[in-house]
Amino acid sequence: MITAPVPSQRRVMVKASSAKTATPKGGKSIRAAITAVHGYLPPDVLTNAELALMVDTSDAWITERTGIKERHILKGKGLGTSHMGAEAVRGLLEKSGTLPKEVDLLICATTTPDFVFPSTANLISDMVGIRNVGSFDVQAACSGFVYALTIAAQFIENGTARKVVVVGADKMSSIIDYTDRATCVLFGDGAGAVLLEPSKKSHGIHDTLIRADGAGMPHLHQKAGGSRMPPTAETVAKRLHYVHQEGAAVYKFAVARMAEISTELMLRNKLNPGKIDWLVPHQANKRIIEATAERMKLPMDRVMMTIHKYGNTTAATIPLCLWDYETRLKEGDRLLVAAFGGGFTWAGAYVTWAYDGGR
Ligand SMILES: CC(C)(COP(=O)(O)OP(=O)(O)OC[C@H]1O[C@@H](n2cnc3c(N)ncnc32)[C@H](O)[C@@H]1OP(=O)(O)O)[C@@H](O)C(=O)NCCC(=O)NCCS
Repeated sequence: MITAPVPSQRRVMVKASSAKTATPKGGKSIRAAITAVHGYLPPDVLTNAELALMVDTSDAWITERTGIKERHILKGKGLGTSHMGAEAVRGLLEKSGTLPKEVDLLICATTTPDFVFPSTANLISDMVGIRNVGSFDVQAACSGFVYALTIAAQFIENGTARKVVVVGADKMSSIIDYTDRATCVLFGDGAGAVLLEPSKKSHGIHDTLIRADGAGMPHLHQKAGGSRMPPTAETVAKRLHYVHQEGAAVYKFAVARMAEISTELMLRNKLNPGKIDWLVPHQANKRIIEATAERMKLPMDRVMMTIHKYGNTTAATIPLCLWDYETRLKEGDRLLVAAFGGGFTWAGAYVTWAYDGGR
């Protein structure tokens, strides 16, 4: 494994990578492949024009500075992240002809769980009829889906699971302050899910990287509601249960780390820009995506982009990109996935696509 440069002594870094090939029972290596993808977006849409009636902003500012035009918002009493995750998983099982009882494991990446406990993965499993198998949440903010994919792939590679569902789902509208123009224009709600199975050919997840630097906490976090500052009338009055973000600091971090992890994955896997069919970037800001593609020397027509219609859906952006572009994907297409988020966290994957078009 290539060691990334450590720019600051203060940084606490956690590194891990999934083995490119595992050799379990019988000595035969297994690769995990994405064999289906599905997504869910709640029907209500919040446009830039509507936001301009709520805070001091404009469609022109949001479009120019972020690339976002609209985002979906989950409305409805009692509906949490699990509702969207379950919708995505139901569609995934249906389109792939998978019965709930065939699923060996379900992992949900989310930063907006329905409850502190039980996990949203437990709730989704119950809602779709997946029973008596493991399910758990992964929390790595906007990098959560790639973290979850990395974990899931290892269950397939070591032969302990044959069908794993990985969900990325977030109801960001539940932790966004709709009086704060610097954050409320950025986020949306949604869910995406993939099915992982042992690859029939050689396509699938070739390599992953997950990284974290907890020194990034002050720049992006939710101040109250956890064990450090449990909820009180005062924390609610001070609006401490919403996303706190220092946009410029996050922006700088995001551009640097997205490019760094993509370049490292390219080097590790002997890829050059000409060999990459699609960059699948986390969708936080169109300018961050463009800067990443530019540093990788990739033309924008090979970059998946959904931010204009969904905004930043946190753990759901990557599976929603795959779902949106599914009909354009061909067996063998080489995908480079790159994400970053609160923590700070960042993560990437090199994947070859396992099937032609949509199902
Ligand atoms: C948030 C972000 C869009 C702000 O864009 P920016 O170009 O950096 O803007 P700045 O923060 O420098 O602010 C510039 C001005 O625009 C204003 N502004 C911020 N949000 C605004 C909005 N929605 N509408 C109009 N003006 C706005 C600021 O108040 C500031 O005004 P000032 O100069 O009078 O103080 C950008 O920093 C960003 O995308 N950061 C990364 C966020 C991210 O990726 N988060 C998710 C992590 S997973």
